[in-house]
Order: sequence, then C-alpha cells, then structure tokens
Amino acid sequence: MAPYLKCVLLVAAFCAYSALGSFIICEWQSAFLSCPAGKTLNVTSGVFGRTRGNCICPSHNVENKNCTSSNSTSIVQGLCNGKNTCSLYASIYIYGDPCPGTFKYLEVVHTCV
Ligand SMILES: *[C@@H]1O[C@H](CO)[C@@H](O)[C@H](O)[C@H]1NC(C)=O
Ligand SMILES: *[C@@H]1O[C@H](CO)[C@@H](O)[C@H](O)[C@H]1NC(C)=O
Ligand SMILES: *[C@@H]1O[C@H](CO)[C@@H](O)[C@H](O)[C@H]1NC(C)=O
Repeated sequence: MAPYLKCVLLVAAFCAYSALGSFIICEWQSAFLSCPAGKTLNVTSGVFGRTRGNCICPSHNVENKNCTSSNSTSIVQGLCNGKNTCSLYASIYIYGDPCPGTFKYLEVVHTCV
C-alpha cells in the first residue's frame, strides 16, 4: 500500500474512533436524534463548537480547535429530553458563536431510557 494511502486510512480510522458513540451534525446542517419506539432521549452532553481538531466536519476554516458553547448542553437537553425524537439544527443562531471564523459542529452524547 502506498505510504500516503496508509496515512489517509489511519487518519480516517482515528477520526471514526474519536466520534464513536456520539451523534455529529456539522454546522448549518440539521438532523433528527431518535430512540427506538417506547424509549425517550436523555442527553448527556451536547457540545456546539470544535474539540477534536480537524477530524470531524473537516474544513479549511479551523482556527480554533478548542472551542465549546457554554450553554449548548442545556439547550439540547431542553429540546430533546423526554422525547422519542427531536430535530437539531447546528447553528450559531441557536447556540451562539463560541469561535467566530471556525467551522463548528454539534456533538451529542445521549442514552435512550
Ligand atoms: C438521564 O441520565 C442521567 C445521567 O446522565 C441520570 O442521572 C438521569 O436519571 C437520567 N434520566 C432519566 C429520565 O433516566
Ligand atoms: C481548552 O480550553 C479550556 C478553557 O476554555 C482549557 O481549560 C483547556 O486546557 C483547553 N484544552 C486544550 C487542549 O487546549
Ligand atoms: C447561549 O450563549 C450564547 C453566548 O455564548 C448566546 O448568544 C445565546 O443567546 C445563548 N442561548 C441561550 C438559549 O441562552
């Protein structure tokens, strides 16, 4: 295998591993978070910002790799907890902008109870 390709595969594997167990929505995208029938969402954390380098939602605009909105977890909990499904929009209009100029994402960790 060409060394370059090997490197690309290693990075992809690391990125997939670092995101394991979380639900990711890149900035300006929306998605539904849901549980199986009969269960409801319990959000452990919902971090809007960028905390995993350029692994997730890669972009050229990544000036700040350690940035989190201070209130995003409570906002996501308010939108989703106790529901079977909820719609999330990864936008600065909802979570504020913890690092202008950096392309961000919403990373949600939850359980179904
Ligand atoms: C939701 O999870 C937290 C722990 O993260 C737990 O303390 C709480 O009891 C859970 N809520 C429900 C309704 O199960
Ligand atoms: C990220 O920022 C927080 C404060 O906002 C700081 O406590 C932490 O050490 C920083 N982590 C890295 C890896 O720079
Ligand atoms: C969350 O915090 C940001 C500033 O960090 C603010 O712009 C936004 O209005 C806050 N949202 C809520 C719902 O409190």
